[in-house]
Amino acid sequence: MKISRKIRLSYSAFLILSLTLLAAARSKAQTAEVFRLDGGNSTYALGVNEHGELQPLYWGGRLGPHDTVPAARSFPEKASFDSPYTTTPEEYAGWGAGLFTEPALKITFADGNRDLVLHFVRATQNSPEAVGLLLKDISREIYVTLRYSIDPDTGILARSADIENREKQPVVIEQAAAAQWTLPPARYTLSYLTGRWAGEWTLNQEPILGGARVIESRRGTTGHQANPWFAISRDSGSLATGPFAAGEENGEVWFGALAWSGSWRITVEHTQLDTVRVTGGFNPFDFGYKLKPGEHLETPVFYGGYSDHGLGGASRLLHHFEIAHILPEAPDPKPRPVIYNSWEATEFRVDEAGQMALAEKAASIGVDRFVMDDGWFGQRKDDHAGLGDWYVNQEKFPHGLKPLIDKVHSLGMDFGLWVEPEMVNPNSDLYRKHPDWVLNFPGRPRSESRNQLVLNLARPDVRDYVEGFLDKLLTENDIAFLKWDYNRNWSEPGWDQVPVEEQKRVYVEFIRNLYSILADLRKKHPRIEIESCSGGGGRVDLGILRYTDEVWTSDNTDPFDRLSMQDGFTYAYTPQIMMAWVTDSPHWLNNKRVTSLAYRMLSAMQGSLGIGANLNQWTAEDFAAAKRLIAAYHSVQRTIVRGDLYRLISPREGSEFSATETVAADKNQAVVFAFANATQEGRGFPLLQLHGLDPNAEYKLSWIAGQASPGTPDTASGAWWMHHGLELDLRGDFQPAAFRLDRSR
Ligand code: GLA
Repeated sequence: MKISRKIRLSYSAFLILSLTLLAAARSKAQTAEVFRLDGGNSTYALGVNEHGELQPLYWGGRLGPHDTVPAARSFPEKASFDSPYTTTPEEYAGWGAGLFTEPALKITFADGNRDLVLHFVRATQNSPEAVGLLLKDISREIYVTLRYSIDPDTGILARSADIENREKQPVVIEQAAAAQWTLPPARYTLSYLTGRWAGEWTLNQEPILGGARVIESRRGTTGHQANPWFAISRDSGSLATGPFAAGEENGEVWFGALAWSGSWRITVEHTQLDTVRVTGGFNPFDFGYKLKPGEHLETPVFYGGYSDHGLGGASRLLHHFEIAHILPEAPDPKPRPVIYNSWEATEFRVDEAGQMALAEKAASIGVDRFVMDDGWFGQRKDDHAGLGDWYVNQEKFPHGLKPLIDKVHSLGMDFGLWVEPEMVNPNSDLYRKHPDWVLNFPGRPRSESRNQLVLNLARPDVRDYVEGFLDKLLTENDIAFLKWDYNRNWSEPGWDQVPVEEQKRVYVEFIRNLYSILADLRKKHPRIEIESCSGGGGRVDLGILRYTDEVWTSDNTDPFDRLSMQDGFTYAYTPQIMMAWVTDSPHWLNNKRVTSLAYRMLSAMQGSLGIGANLNQWTAEDFAAAKRLIAAYHSVQRTIVRGDLYRLISPREGSEFSATETVAADKNQAVVFAFANATQEGRGFPLLQLHGLDPNAEYKLSWIAGQASPGTPDTASGAWWMHHGLELDLRGDFQPAAFRLDRSR
């Protein structure tokens, strides 16, 4: 007995010993595990530390192919207040253990446990350009797959997370990021975009100091107020000397953009260890996604990139990436047709004869596409009625849309139409029939904005109705383009048709259904092109841009305001999608500011051009000038919207001057726009030294508007235009100039 007991004891001791050895061997193997992705001019690396936690290791300039990245190692505790779980940057931190920094994932389990600690399990995919990494909670059956892929050209990474509940009970996800990004300890400047209706795209820049800066939307949509994009520039000062302004054309910049059109949040956190962490994904505000056993929650994608050519380099990478990988016609979307839209001219007063007359005038100046805006459907006379009733208004269009569409085609243009599919006016047949279809909490007030309510697109029947009427509209009419509007944000986001604990899924399901409608329509009608509009630029993000070809930048078409809006816009988005209309002067904003047609045209020609003026009031000279400039635009459009953009002089903060330059990919052409907005004390235009040309090539100068200062050569080398530079005699108020350089040798 004694002996056998002894044997048993030593046998179990042996078992324990071998398990410990196995675990040690495994953790040693894990320690060495480093995953590395290289693309463009950047490298990203992460690894598993001795505790089994996934840790970011490197993000920056591209490393040599044989360089090794030191293995992950957890950081020590800081005094008794911060455990290694807080001091060690986690690649995707579960809220649990001793975490005090921003978590990526926070979950409440059915038994009340809220502790979540994710450890690495295995790589599910590992190629030079993509990695999938499976994490699991230390004891519960919660699995997270982190997905990474890197674009070999731009080095932009796409990151997302898939969260799976394999517990026997449901769990509630209260916070789920798409990704967390970690930057090395240094001084940084944060750039981000904010705004409001008619005032989108303000670029803000501030030093990143202790604490967190939150940029977000709680509105159920992307929002005008902030855009899901950031850029972080490494300051040239040291930690001791403090920050310096972010460089436009030099210095290191890390940037990112979220592909999500619902409520979102990006938190930029400066930790006590001087590390900067960026966490972004679903906005945790009012979030509570019930995940039943076996269900997954897939986060949006958070794109991130690195440039060592300043903010200018960062935005050029993003522009190329959007063109090559995001837009529906990627990798080679055609330049946008020049459109005419009568919204500012006629507002809701559309009818067959009036639109036909405008179409004739638009065709005469070289417009490619005629778009009829709001007012053509239901009982729509103003914004009090009609949304939801997507039948053609018989009084305004007694013969349907066909005669107008035929007329537009006969003039050599294609036809586009305004819709606002997710909305309903209480004064509509649709609302009278289905008052329960809107977002609302039963028994509570339903707040209207612009006299309208939001249809609950999360409901399958509402989703099908919306897809159904759009499909019918596109099947019955020869429509090339939809301007898809969305003129309010959510309020009272109730969804009482599903059990209480599932109602907050509305934040995810609404947007997924929106995307799936857009995807279905594009599949059924492969020629259709779509603009994302939301009272201007309220829904612009890399999520909606997978399904839409362009965006309405802002309802503010004042050409001077547009210069700084367009400047801000291009930090995050390509000019290809940036619709810019020429409208009337005096302009309705800014106390009827007066500007010349040339100034308005040149301001708008920096993006994808449209005409939104009342052509019935144009003079013969206006028609002639517009026709000449539209022809000039057509001849250089590809360079403007697809080339490399250099913001030479910023119009921000009431600058007297501004200038942009775009250079074609093959460096055969450059187009420059310059504006003297309100010069003071007779100051002359700053010397224009260009960028991005081939220094050894010869370029010929031709003027689109304006003229050279005496002594400017007609032809000179790229080196001359870049180093010697060119003088412009541009002074006064709202004076424009534009020229092109074409490689002649
Ligand atoms: C929004 C759009 C405008 C116009 C109106 C129509 O404000 O941004 O361009 O289409 O709706 O109601």
